[in-house]
Amino acid sequence: MTHFLDINTTPADDLRAIIDQAKAIKNARAGLPKGALDADAPLAGQMVALIFEKPSTRTRVSFDVGVRQMGGQTMVLSGQDMQLGHGETIADTARVLSRYVDMIMIRTFEEATLQEMAEYASVPVINGLTNRTHPCQIMADILTFEEHRGPIAGKKVVWSGDGNNVCASFIHAAGQFGFDLTFTGPQTLDPEAVFVEEARAKGVNITIERDARAAVEGADLIVTDTWVSMHDPQSARERRHNQLRPYQVNQDLMALAKPDALFMHCLPAHRDEEATTAVMDGPNSVIFDEAENRLHAQKAVMRYCLGK
Ligand code: CP
Repeated sequence: MTHFLDINTTPADDLRAIIDQAKAIKNARAGLPKGALDADAPLAGQMVALIFEKPSTRTRVSFDVGVRQMGGQTMVLSGQDMQLGHGETIADTARVLSRYVDMIMIRTFEEATLQEMAEYASVPVINGLTNRTHPCQIMADILTFEEHRGPIAGKKVVWSGDGNNVCASFIHAAGQFGFDLTFTGPQTLDPEAVFVEEARAKGVNITIERDARAAVEGADLIVTDTWVSMHDPQSARERRHNQLRPYQVNQDLMALAKPDALFMHCLPAHRDEEATTAVMDGPNSVIFDEAENRLHAQKAVMRYCLGK
């Protein structure tokens, strides 16, 4: 059974193979909706359940399209519409779904839900985001960086803003792909210490720098995300905005990084809050390549899980 639960729990060689296959899948597309590598329909006859307990545009559409392009079928399920949202246990849900479908992708709140689904399912389970991590997004982001700038190993990545679930998966990726990561944000919104310690234990250079202007010096990539995540209480909005305003990615901040530094945001964005429109639509922004690459990276993840 091969699940894809997190970047730090997937062997580094497997992650590299997934990225390389994603590149091949994308290149084989040659501008067409379906590429030559989909021609053998690796998911023919397979049904994939896509469970969402939180809203989604990119994850939902890219998984749905990806499965169909590989010859499989999908079933998009809302957690609230399932008995899962009305008291049925995760373990029972996992065992029942495994009798019907060949793979499960779940976007949920608690990491424990994902872990329990994986423990009791007898089909592969993919993490489509939890409150703690978002590994599929970062696989797309690694693919995006490397198609623009070559190998990410040894590069300097700066995360500016909230040390949230997407930031956590970037820290995991620093350990697995061997790049340096600087977090810049207020202390109250630091990434979980365990993520930082684990990466440092692998010999990766993880820096915490409160001054955003100092942090971005020499950066090859600047990344940010929304200041209030889906699981954060809206009552925290004003306080978070006040704390995070110094970490907005604007043209002044981008100018302090390397001239060819890329800008990433996983989207959805709140334009002119965490990043200005000038940066998001500027020459160094690759935000829509990131969105497209969810499709290619996840196709490679699904093939990996199914041994295709
Ligand atoms: N980046 C991301 O996961 O987008 P969605 O929330 O739209 O799926």
